[in-house]
Amino acid sequence: MFALESALAFAFGFLVICYGLLRWNELRYRKKGIPPGTMGWPLFGETTEFLKQGPNFLKNQKARYGSLFKSHILGFPTVVCMDPDINRYILMNESKGLVPGYPQSMLDILGECNIAAVTGPLHKSIRSAMLGLINPTMIRSHLLSKIDEFMRSHLSHWNDQVIDIQEKTKEMALYSALKQIAGIESGPVSKALKAEIFQLVLGTLSLPINLPGTNYRRAFRARRKVVEMFRAIIEERRSSHCFQNDLLDFLLKSDENMKTRLTDEQITDLIIALVYSGYETVSTTSMMAVKYLHDHPKALHELRKENFNIRKGKSSEEGIDWDDYKSMAFTRAVILETLRMATVVNGVMRKTTRDIEMKGFVIPQGWRIYVCTRELNYDPNLYHDPLNFNPWRWLDRNLDSHQNFMMFGGGSRLCPGKELGTAEIATFLHHLVTRYRWKEVGGATILEFPRVQALNGLHIRFSSYRVHSEREC
Ligand code: HEM
Repeated sequence: MFALESALAFAFGFLVICYGLLRWNELRYRKKGIPPGTMGWPLFGETTEFLKQGPNFLKNQKARYGSLFKSHILGFPTVVCMDPDINRYILMNESKGLVPGYPQSMLDILGECNIAAVTGPLHKSIRSAMLGLINPTMIRSHLLSKIDEFMRSHLSHWNDQVIDIQEKTKEMALYSALKQIAGIESGPVSKALKAEIFQLVLGTLSLPINLPGTNYRRAFRARRKVVEMFRAIIEERRSSHCFQNDLLDFLLKSDENMKTRLTDEQITDLIIALVYSGYETVSTTSMMAVKYLHDHPKALHELRKENFNIRKGKSSEEGIDWDDYKSMAFTRAVILETLRMATVVNGVMRKTTRDIEMKGFVIPQGWRIYVCTRELNYDPNLYHDPLNFNPWRWLDRNLDSHQNFMMFGGGSRLCPGKELGTAEIATFLHHLVTRYRWKEVGGATILEFPRVQALNGLHIRFSSYRVHSEREC
């Protein structure tokens, strides 16, 4: 009897403490004009609900509080914005007190001079250096042939193999970037960089707790090693005077002519940003395209037709050129439809540098804004039958120039790698569909949020397409 009473008293006390903590946290952030919503637990806020229930959590909160609601996620008081007009306004108005607001772990690990960490004139000069490297003219004259050569070799020897396509597309995105940036071919240097960069990526999505055994600490160590390796490569380049025709050479050359030269630290962080930004977006889109095409044979058939047409009159060793790439309308449509369906990028983060007024609400200085673009991808007003994988929709209308198309962000932070990323995935698909057919082996569990990933990999059996190709296309 005494034990039961004690247990009840304990449970009651526990509930009172929980209620007290929740209430205290609500009151702490209560201020006139702030959007409605809940703040969850002190310190942790609603991060667990956000990460575990993802889109459902956001949908429920939106149903209760409207498309602008407050929460506390990833360590900060945050306003979640699911209103397309306000989202567009936020992306377009960095100068009006809305700067990038990525988690501290990301900024620490990607470096102080990382493009996502800088604003104003420094952002402009780093961004213009970056655009100088990966603009369409550079893709046409230098990068596309490198990408083609890389994809051709990366996709060789897949015949009669069961491959974890998640692993392979990750390697593909990383090794292809290393080849373009510093001419690093597959070998010991790329393998050493791969181990460190994979670690670094993991750490950017962790809590910033610098204790032994944490992903954050491991990523910090990985960053140090990556910086050392790139510094050594930069020094060697500077002393060798031998032109290697890769992005690093262009960067060092244009840097000599620039009015405000980038420091070595800025150059290293720029290279890390190039690798990091393209890595997960390109690899996940490529993996999910393989999955969707497997599940939608009509789309795969159309894609093959387009790509076999491009191969007509070419020898098997001949690569694709800019005109071929530009003629790949359906391939591009498959990439856009994959980005939409899989929602490779859920949204972007901003931080307020002063109190901001929006739709009659006030967002206090220092709060984060989660610009959630995910919902737009499934909006039936924008996309007919939105849950259906239908690449043809991108051919009919200029959907990608619609004002609510935000898959590559917008405004002064619009993705500078948009064309390069598309060219890489298109080249990958070109060689894949003209060389292989594929079948999924076993089932795969694909997580959609916060990152798109196949929990235990996505295993695919590849076999040569040539045997059957002419009959089917
Ligand atoms: C399918 C591929 C890609 C998607 C969906 C994508 C998406 C995005 C989005 C949504 C943003 C905006 C972030 C923000 O506003 O805070 C962004 C920015 C950025 N992206 Fe991409 N990206 C892709 C490929 C690439 C590639 C291949 C590169 C580099 C080679 C790249 C480099 C960058 C950089 C450096 C930024 C930051 C720009 C700035 O802050 O000014 N992206 N990307």
